[in-house]
Amino acid sequence: MRKEKRNYRIGVIAGDGIGPEIIAQAVRVLDRTAEKFGFALDYVPMDLGGCSIDRYGIPLTEETVTLAKSCDAVLMGSIGGDPKTSPWYQLEPSRRPEAGLLGIRKALGLFANLRFSNLYEDLKDACPLREDIAAEGIDFVILRELTGGLYFGEKKTEMVNGEERATDVLAYSESEIRRIAVKAFDSAMLRRKKLTLVDKANVLESSRLWRKVVSSMAEDYPEVEVDYMYVDNAAMQLVRRPSQFDVILTENMFGDILSDEASMVVGSIGMQPSASLAEGSFGLYEPSHGSAPDIAGQDRANPLATILSAACMLRYSLGEEEAAGAIESAVMSVLKQYRTPDLKSEGDGTLAVGTAGMGEKVVQAI
Ligand code: IPM
Ligand code: MG
Repeated sequence: MRKEKRNYRIGVIAGDGIGPEIIAQAVRVLDRTAEKFGFALDYVPMDLGGCSIDRYGIPLTEETVTLAKSCDAVLMGSIGGDPKTSPWYQLEPSRRPEAGLLGIRKALGLFANLRFSNLYEDLKDACPLREDIAAEGIDFVILRELTGGLYFGEKKTEMVNGEERATDVLAYSESEIRRIAVKAFDSAMLRRKKLTLVDKANVLESSRLWRKVVSSMAEDYPEVEVDYMYVDNAAMQLVRRPSQFDVILTENMFGDILSDEASMVVGSIGMQPSASLAEGSFGLYEPSHGSAPDIAGQDRANPLATILSAACMLRYSLGEEEAAGAIESAVMSVLKQYRTPDLKSEGDGTLAVGTAGMGEKVVQAI
């Protein structure tokens, strides 16, 4: 049942580097869908990362957390700069842009990160894999645990026996594993009913707990085929035969690494949307790629991962499935004719467009 008045409050983190350019295009596309599908969006701008450091000296303020919590969902561009040249990286690690991103994930309880890899028919030529491999089709999602593991375990650097020794703790509790595994099983039920848990259970104690929890839950989902795969093998299988995957469930660090590989498998990291979900319907939506400071402000960045993330936001946080589908169809139809530089190859018969041009084409196609 639809709410009478569909009015949503959307936090917007434009961020650093190409962030503001790609967000501008996603907002145009959202405005067009709101107009077409009859709902209203109020945007609430907020700072995170480098721009927050410049303004307040820290990458994440209490104000941003409070504002974000007051919203139905948050849409984000990208944060961070070039570690070799940006002054942000002269700061101690806990005050750098990335700390802001990790901080907001934790503060908002965004424990489930979904990163989608779809090989669009019209992008088959952008796929770096052999033609016969691409021909089998690629359509999977990685569910990456986002608020635990090595990223958030105890960290220290100390002097031991006259030399520095650094430690990062990798710990997971049953409940942390179970809450994301529920999302993974539920996703699998809505898809092709195949779940692959990726771990390193031949070496890591924490991985053995993941297996124990997931295999005990499998009994409640008899229709889902559950597979267990070591992470090194998974890295190889992703390029050998990606068509075998439907839902991949994995811990934070493995998910970080495999999702970058997974984005390239379908042509470009510039195409991969992501959703970071909390309990309930709240989520933060961002492209999987970074802030690409080397091309910032040049109208070269591909805004499609951000536009597709906005579609995910409509679907998962706002329940506006029709509008989400309209954005995805528009993106597919635009790709038949237009490409940003990351997707373009000589003689592919398409026309080159920049960031704003791509946004414009998607708006027109909705
Ligand atoms: C990502 C990024 C972040 C991560 C960095 C910027 C901290 O690589 O979202 O994948 O490692 O989670
Ligand atoms: Mg990453």
